[in-house]
Amino acid sequence: MKSSFFALLLVCAAAPVAVQGEQVGNGTIRLFSNKTGPGVASGATNAGIIQIYIDDQWGNICSNQTTFGQREADTVCYQLGYNGADSFGAYGAALFGIDTSAAVIKDVHCDSDQYQVLSQCHYSPADSNSCSDKTDIHVTCSTTDIWGDPYDGMVRLVEGSYSSEGLVEVYCNKEWGTVCDDGIDDDEADTVCVQLGYTKSFKWDKLPIRGNGSQPIWLDNLYCGHTDKTCIGYCQTCPSKESTDCSHGEDLTVQCTYNKASFEKGSLRTTCTGIEDSWWTFIHIVIIAAAGLVGFILCCLCVCLSFCCCCAAGAKKKKKVINTAYTQFD
Ligand SMILES: *[C@@H]1O[C@H](CO)[C@@H](O)[C@H](O)[C@H]1NC(C)=O
Ligand SMILES: *[C@@H]1O[C@H](CO)[C@@H](O)[C@H](O)[C@H]1NC(C)=O
Ligand SMILES: *[C@@H]1O[C@H](CO)[C@@H](O)[C@H](O)[C@H]1NC(C)=O
Ligand SMILES: *[C@@H]1O[C@H](CO)[C@@H](O)[C@H](O)[C@H]1NC(C)=O
Repeated sequence: MKSSFFALLLVCAAAPVAVQGEQVGNGTIRLFSNKTGPGVASGATNAGIIQIYIDDQWGNICSNQTTFGQREADTVCYQLGYNGADSFGAYGAALFGIDTSAAVIKDVHCDSDQYQVLSQCHYSPADSNSCSDKTDIHVTCSTTDIWGDPYDGMVRLVEGSYSSEGLVEVYCNKEWGTVCDDGIDDDEADTVCVQLGYTKSFKWDKLPIRGNGSQPIWLDNLYCGHTDKTCIGYCQTCPSKESTDCSHGEDLTVQCTYNKASFEKGSLRTTCTGIEDSWWTFIHIVIIAAAGLVGFILCCLCVCLSFCCCCAAGAKKKKKVINTAYTQFD
């Protein structure tokens, strides 16, 4: 009796969590395909009708040929981890099948080609008057991924249900490794999301994804509180060796969201490149400047010494000349 009461209590407590279902970050993008169209491989994840998650629902993007162009399509593909768009167009249903969701945004326009997520661009809410299945935008992304030319301190999210979430991996010493969650707080999780173009992390350490044994754990005790929270490279630079303090059970996962009203803005594609290089440049400049200073001091000493020697020798000579003159008068 007692145990069944507790079981009931447990079911009641668990129920609201189960009903809430998936929690997806705003601005998350996925590609929908309800059939295999011409030139679309079965199960292809790089092609489909674009769906964006905004205000707690998935919806399509209503075309406006004057604004949605190559740059906007590229941005969608960058967000999904691909290196740009091969093609895009309206009336996705013809290629990818009927999609029962409605359009949620229209007039998408990116004023920079450096954005990483579509929410960084301008858009307005869709209306049912001008939007229908015929206006759903679809895209086919390049199959090469965006991590082909990585830099030290680059981050990516892997193995999540969407590209806005997953295991945090950072690139160091020519290899992708994980981040230990020791000392992680909102600041660090937010920095990962901002580096990827989102505005913040709404959850971290909540996904059951871990790095595997063959992967190094690069960062440990990450601290971003003193930085502007735009790039992980400002919080900690790549170590020369992997951390041995942590196990993969402590690997960090994050779920990112884009809040349009946020004061924070997601980083651009180039915001975090070359931070480690600039540290090296700085260190080199300091070394060269120090060497220059030492050289200058040594030079000064030499000049002083030789000047003193000359003076001493000159004075002696003068005295001798005067002495000689007196001797002649005598
Ligand atoms: C997404 O946006 C909605 C509406 O603006 C908001 O209620 C919700 O909390 C946001 N979700 C996240 C994960 O930030
Ligand atoms: C997929 O297409 C079929 C018709 O071909 C439609 O009945 C079904 O609702 C579509 N599925 C979704 C999830 O939109
Ligand atoms: C397309 O979007 C632009 C910019 O938001 C807007 O000025 C224009 O009126 C739109 N065109 C159509 C046909 O809706
Ligand atoms: C471990 O991770 C690496 C890098 O992500 C991957 O290449 C490899 O296949 C994984 N191995 C296993 C056993 O999952």
